[in-house]
Amino acid sequence: MNKPVIPVIDVRQRPAPTSQELLETIKNIDLSKPTLDTLGRPLRDLRISVTDRCNFRCSYCMPKSVFDRDYAYLPQKELLRFEEITTIAAAATQLGVKKIRITGGEPLLRKNVEILIAQLSELRTLDGKPLDLTLTTNASLLKKKAQSLKDAGLKRLTISLDAMDDAIFRQMNDMDFPVADVLDGIAMASQVGFEDIKVNMVVKRGTNEDQILPMAAHFRGTGVSLRFIEYMDVGASNGWRMDEVLPTADVLSLLQSRWPLQALPPKSVGETATRYGYLNAQGALDPQLGEVGFISSVTQAFCQDCNRARLSTDGRLFNCLFATEGANVRDLLRGAPDGGVDTVAQYLAYLWQQRTDQYSALRQAGMVPAGNAERRVEMSFIGG
Ligand code: GTP
Ligand code: 5AD
Ligand code: SF4
Ligand code: SF4
Repeated sequence: MNKPVIPVIDVRQRPAPTSQELLETIKNIDLSKPTLDTLGRPLRDLRISVTDRCNFRCSYCMPKSVFDRDYAYLPQKELLRFEEITTIAAAATQLGVKKIRITGGEPLLRKNVEILIAQLSELRTLDGKPLDLTLTTNASLLKKKAQSLKDAGLKRLTISLDAMDDAIFRQMNDMDFPVADVLDGIAMASQVGFEDIKVNMVVKRGTNEDQILPMAAHFRGTGVSLRFIEYMDVGASNGWRMDEVLPTADVLSLLQSRWPLQALPPKSVGETATRYGYLNAQGALDPQLGEVGFISSVTQAFCQDCNRARLSTDGRLFNCLFATEGANVRDLLRGAPDGGVDTVAQYLAYLWQQRTDQYSALRQAGMVPAGNAERRVEMSFIGG
């Protein structure tokens, strides 16, 4: 067993950028012009972590050896309040954000998360449309919460599930949580009217690769899109090793040995997944059979069009999943003179304009920034 690297520096603690100088600088930012980062990428997707806690201990995300009883989760007072999250989200829409994903940790553990969803569902994009509002969950509480999430205005759902085999799944979530309860949650979600349901499966070679075909067989033809995710070197504690990554190319050829598939064109710029549709006996794409997706950030990085920013549980903005530090938006907001939205929008634009991030592409090219791995924030803190 390789030993996980335990972060030595708590990168979550950064000083607040409330200086007069900063306020003066951002005051001159013109939001009527498109905001692009240094690589010409716009901001379209904001992922908001509403808790850094989870009731699962997936080894690739929150291994028990690090996230044990002594782990210092954020105290309640450090968390962004719902009104603050909504203000920051409203500011982000001024920069062109169209999609908001609520994540964690496990977001359904955040008390009254439906209230936040209701607030976010009132927001509009720059062209006056409702946001694409979605949430990632491990489904442990979904059976209970699906109806209230739908009623609150949530549009879509993504569920994490790594195996159909109960023993393998219980071992991967490391909390002995059964597959049947996740499947019940998915069934309830579709019963209450969620249409665009996705299932994310992180594939680890030697752990759940034999679950690829059973997972695909289970979800094929159900209307649920299954996505296979390459195990990533995210965070600082999962003890990631390249030999545990099963490349998308291998997963795809395994699937194609069983079912004919055809590549589908991207639905939008900057999509994380490449999609394939199932063909029917006549060799035609068949919407009844549905599609699968592949998220290949290790072997085919998709940084080029990355339009995603992440807001951590305590209100820091991270411009990349692999970032080592975030900008303190919360304290700027708490000190803002005008209730905040415009000041925060200018601050977000200021931060985005400086963005150079393309971690996965650099790692693929063998140009990983020195010391990055030890100091990276955990995915449970900034969201998936
Ligand atoms: P949909 O619009 O529902 O397709 O959302 P999405 O494509 O953003 O998918 P989702 O949020 O479910 O992300 C799936 C997984 O892709 C995450 O859990 C991560 O493992 C990975 N992922 C998402 N965004 C990024 C990213 O910006 N960089 C990298 N390297 N991986 C990402
Ligand atoms: N590699 C890939 N995906 C990960 N996730 C968490 N950790 C990793 C990792 N190391 C993603 C999974 C899960 C979501 C909550 O976060 O997709 O479904
Ligand atoms: Fe929890 Fe999701 Fe991380 Fe698993 S991947 S530990 S369910 S946040
Ligand atoms: Fe975006 Fe960073 Fe992921 Fe690249 S590694 S796609 S820049 S979040």
